[in-house]
Amino acid sequence: MTLTYDFSGQVALVTGAASGMGLAAARAFAEAGAAVVLADVNQAALDVETEKLASAGHRVLGVLCDVSDEAQVEAMVARTVETFGRLDMAFNNAGIQVDPSDAADETGANFDLVNGVNMRGVWACMKHELKQMRAQGSGAIVNCSSLGGLVGLPQRAAYHAGKHGVIGMTKSAAMEYAPRGVRINAVCPGVIETPMVADMLVGQAEAMEAIMREQPIGCLGRAEEVAAAALWLCSPGASFVVGVALPVDGGFTAH
Ligand SMILES: NC(=O)c1ccc[n+]([C@@H]2O[C@H](COP(=O)([O-])OP(=O)(O)OC[C@H]3O[C@@H](n4cnc5c(N)ncnc54)[C@H](O)[C@@H]3O)[C@@H](O)[C@H]2O)c1
Repeated sequence: MTLTYDFSGQVALVTGAASGMGLAAARAFAEAGAAVVLADVNQAALDVETEKLASAGHRVLGVLCDVSDEAQVEAMVARTVETFGRLDMAFNNAGIQVDPSDAADETGANFDLVNGVNMRGVWACMKHELKQMRAQGSGAIVNCSSLGGLVGLPQRAAYHAGKHGVIGMTKSAAMEYAPRGVRINAVCPGVIETPMVADMLVGQAEAMEAIMREQPIGCLGRAEEVAAAALWLCSPGASFVVGVALPVDGGFTAH
């Protein structure tokens, strides 16, 4: 995929950047000329991917960060600004899956685990990114929701709760910050071929087959296709786009 953005002189932060669509976005931001902070909880993968981008000549920094811990998120944004001087674009993408469960049997621990990362993590990232962007009077944030933020699916109540929550906080903060020069939007990926989905295809083959039958385009999405949407939402091409939850799902939610 050829991306034609010019983000030189700008600074991008991507969470969950050591794998899947976060990695694809970090690579795409770097190739478009941005300095990129890759944040992830997986130190080994983070080191490998940051080093690959650095050896290709890109300005990158790897930061170990568990987004469910607000103090670590605050430190991650502080290191971004200390290192590169500002923060222009953020893709709050880090997320996890939990095993599907009958809604009557879901444990509180599972609910807290998935929403601690997928919803509270996005909340903390957006909060601390906004402190910097508010001071600058500019910026663009893309939060990662999911088709699970737009529709329900059996046995997925805990995951879908958090992904719906991401859209709620995106819209509210977008309205608050649009007049202050910061655009906030969300992407809602369908079923995308990443390590997360590879695990689900093995462990939950039947359920995944049923889910994929709902994807009219007839194939899995690629991480680069979600990254392309995130970059567009951060680009001047999306200058009038505020508070949307953009499906990137091969038509899944067009039903
Ligand atoms: N793959 C899909 O089909 C799909 C569909 C819809 C939404 N999503 C969402 O897209 C995002 C990325 O998913 P992916 O498929 O690329 O997954 P992935 O598992 O390939 O990558 C996720 C990355 O996030 C990191 N991470 C996990 N917990 C973290 C934490 N607490 N703090 C910081 N980093 C953490 C992981 O180490 C990993 O590198 C997630 O929010 C996911 O819910 C994925």
